[in-house]
Amino acid sequence: MPRVFIKTFGCQMNEYDSGKMRALLGRDGFERTEDLADADVVLVNTCSVREKPEQKLHSFLGRVLPMKRQRRVTVGIAGCMASVAGESLFKRYPQVDLVFGPDAVSRIGEMVATAPTQRVLDTEFLGEAGYPFPSEVDPEAAGRISSFVTIQKGCDNRCTFCIVPATRGDEVSRPVADVLAEVRALAERGVKEVTLLGQNVNSYGLKIAGHPSFADLLRAVHEVEGVEVIRYTTSHPRDIGDDVVDCYKDLPKLASHLHLPVQSGSNRVLRRMKRFYTREQYLGVVERLQAVRPDLVLSTDIICGFPGESDADFDDTMSLLEAVRFQASFSFNYSPRPGTPALKLLDDAVPAAVMQARLERFQSRQREIALESHDALVGSVQQVLVEGPSAHDEGVICGRTSTFKTVNFPGTPNQVGRWIPVRVTRGFANTLRGEPA
Ligand code: SAH
Ligand code: SF4
Ligand code: F3S
Repeated sequence: MPRVFIKTFGCQMNEYDSGKMRALLGRDGFERTEDLADADVVLVNTCSVREKPEQKLHSFLGRVLPMKRQRRVTVGIAGCMASVAGESLFKRYPQVDLVFGPDAVSRIGEMVATAPTQRVLDTEFLGEAGYPFPSEVDPEAAGRISSFVTIQKGCDNRCTFCIVPATRGDEVSRPVADVLAEVRALAERGVKEVTLLGQNVNSYGLKIAGHPSFADLLRAVHEVEGVEVIRYTTSHPRDIGDDVVDCYKDLPKLASHLHLPVQSGSNRVLRRMKRFYTREQYLGVVERLQAVRPDLVLSTDIICGFPGESDADFDDTMSLLEAVRFQASFSFNYSPRPGTPALKLLDDAVPAAVMQARLERFQSRQREIALESHDALVGSVQQVLVEGPSAHDEGVICGRTSTFKTVNFPGTPNQVGRWIPVRVTRGFANTLRGEPA
C-alpha cells in the first residue's frame, strides 16, 4: 500500500481539511504514516494568517525536499498559503509536485495520481453551486470523543488585517442535510462532542432566502442521538442574533463556552479593522448570553499593535479583558499580510518593541485572570467528559468541562467517553487538576 504523510499547520479548518484528505486518500488505498522517511506522498497543509506560520513551511520543506534525491516521493503544498502564493511556490521549490488550495481538497485523489507525471496547480475558488464538501468521514476523527464538522467555507467579511478571504474565497454554507449526515456518522462511531466550523458561523445560510439559519442548524444538530456536547467556532460578534442567544436557553447540549474574537477593546481600532461592532455592542452580546446562561465562559482573539493603535487604545483592550474576564485568549502581534487593506495604514505602524511590550502586558494579565478563576474552582465538583489518557503522566486521564476547561485526574483508559464528576484540587493557567469525586 502506498503511504501518505500529512503535516498540518494553522487552525481547526486545516485540521479538518487534512482529515478529509486522509479519508479520501484512504478510500483510494493509501495508508497513513507518521514516519516521513516511509512516505510515498507528503502533503503539508499551510497557514498564512501571520508571517510566523508561513515560515514553518520553509523549515518543513527543508527536511522533506532532500528526500527526493534518494527516492520517488510526491510532495504537495496545500492550504491557505498555497492558495495565495500559488505558482510562485513552484519557482521557489522546483521539486514540489502539487500546489493546491482549500477548495481542491475534494480532488486530492486525482491530483496525487497525476502528480508523478505532471505538476498540478489548483488554487481556483469554487462558487456556491454544488460546492463539494467531502462527505467521507476521517477514520481518525471518528475514533475520538470530539470531532470537527465544517458547516461553511470561506468568508464574506473583509476585516482589514485578514488574509483569510483571499485564501479561502467567498462564504458558502454547507447544506443542513450534509452537516447532519456527517454529525450522525460521527456519533455512530462514538463521537460525543462536535465542533461546528466556519469563519463566521453566525452568517450561516443568510445569503440564501429561506435557508435555515445558524440557530436552526444548532437546533437540528441538538436532535442527533449520541451527540452530547455542541461547540462552534468562529463566531463574529456583530452577527450573533437573539435566535442564537435563545439557543443557550433551550439547548442543554450547547456548551457553556463561547470563543468570541474581539480583536481590540478600542472603538477607534475596531473601526479601522472594519469589524463593524463597538466595544459596547460586544459587551452587550456577552451580557445577553450570560443572562440566559450564567456559567458561560468566554475566550477571545486579540491583535496587539494594529497600525495606529495608541497607548490609550491598548488600555481599552486591557480594560475589556477586565470587564469580560476572558478565561483564555489567542493574542498575537499584528502581522502585515500581502494584499490586505491594512497595508495602507502602515505609515502608522506601531514600533515592534512597543507592540511586544503590549502583548506581554496583555498575556501576563490574561494568565493571572485565568489562574484567579481556576483557583476559585478549587474544591468544586466539575462534570468532565473524558477524552483520553494524559500525554504526560501515566495513570492520569484528561477531559473537558462544558466550559472548555481541561481537567487532569487519576483514572483509567476505559473511562474515555464517560462523564466523571471531578473535585478540583489545583488550578493552573491553562488546566485544572482534580480527583474523582
Ligand atoms: N474568522 C475568525 C478569525 C480567523 S483568523 C474571526 O473573524 O474571528 C484567526 C485569528 O487570527 C483572528 O481572530 C485574529 O486575531 C488573528 N489574525 C488574523 N490576521 C492577523 C494578522 N494580520 N496579524 C495578527 N493576527 C491576525
Ligand atoms: Fe478574517 Fe474577518 Fe473573515 Fe474572520 S471574519 S476570517 S477575521 S475577514
Ligand atoms: Fe486557518 Fe491559517 Fe487559513 S488560520 S483559515 S489555516 S490562514
